[in-house]
Amino acid sequence: MHATAYANSNIAFIKYWGNRDETLRLPSNSSLSMNLNGVFTRTTVHWDDTLKQDHLILNGQDQTGEPLMRVSQHLDAIRKRLNLTSYAQVDSENNFPMGAGIASSASSFAALTVAGFTAAGASEVSEREMTTIARLGSGSASRSIPTGFVEWHAADRHEDSYAESIATPDHWDLVDVIAIVSSAHKEVGSKQGHPSANTSDLQSARVAGADDRLQICKTAILDHDFDTFAEVVERDSNLMHAVMMTSRPALFYWQPASLTVMSAVRRWRADGLQVCYTLDAGPNVHCLCTARDAETIQRELSTLDGVKDVRFAAVGAGARS
Ligand code: PMV
Repeated sequence: MHATAYANSNIAFIKYWGNRDETLRLPSNSSLSMNLNGVFTRTTVHWDDTLKQDHLILNGQDQTGEPLMRVSQHLDAIRKRLNLTSYAQVDSENNFPMGAGIASSASSFAALTVAGFTAAGASEVSEREMTTIARLGSGSASRSIPTGFVEWHAADRHEDSYAESIATPDHWDLVDVIAIVSSAHKEVGSKQGHPSANTSDLQSARVAGADDRLQICKTAILDHDFDTFAEVVERDSNLMHAVMMTSRPALFYWQPASLTVMSAVRRWRADGLQVCYTLDAGPNVHCLCTARDAETIQRELSTLDGVKDVRFAAVGAGARS
């Protein structure tokens, strides 16, 4: 009873920040993202009746404590759904640095979910249901299961808060050119960050406008309208960071080099390049551009002060086993 699954990470255009229900990870607002081709986690799950507890190997190292506990809790959700009693051996590897604004929890919990169900031979579990279970491990993981461009619906009930594809990877040749300004592990991860969202006076305004921004962004994607896309993506990222900076305690993810990149991106767009920025809970800047301008953006980024590395990812497929 074992299976291996691959899941790409994803970058949100309309962000998820804050939950209406922390335990079920029901988000305060719906979100929209694209999967990042080739920025992935590979996970093997082996359900084994002889084990006395779950085991986790992460990037070649045996894990105990918090990482094992989070994986074990997620396996509990799969066990509960399938009435399984076995423990599992989990072997997981990322091909990118963890905790630096490239969501490792998204690809990790997506791959763990798909590998867990596949290893148990649970072909009756639909993609939609798998996205709801992945969500319990990490909200953004729900968006790494469907293919291409993905919307995750906010809802009041577990079964209604699922993710689905709105367009396949070949729909639009967007590229995420990631300016790495730091690869250190972030100080406050999103798991601790979400509960702080409601301590900001700005969160209710951000959430109130989220559906409008999502519709504008979705229509821009479907119409290949880069200018509209760029405006709403940057506005949404700025709104999330405004909430973070005004939470108690305040969370500042931007570094001086992040701002250098953000202002360069705005200048390049004013000069006619199709590029905009978005940042997650970390200092690295995701520069979203069309394939036409990706090489120019990469070249220009590597000349900026504080940019340590530049990575590329086109629109990726969904999780697969
Ligand atoms: O899924 P989590 O708990 O890692 O939260 C992700 C939060 C952001 O990356 C900041 C935004 C998003 O929608 O991906």
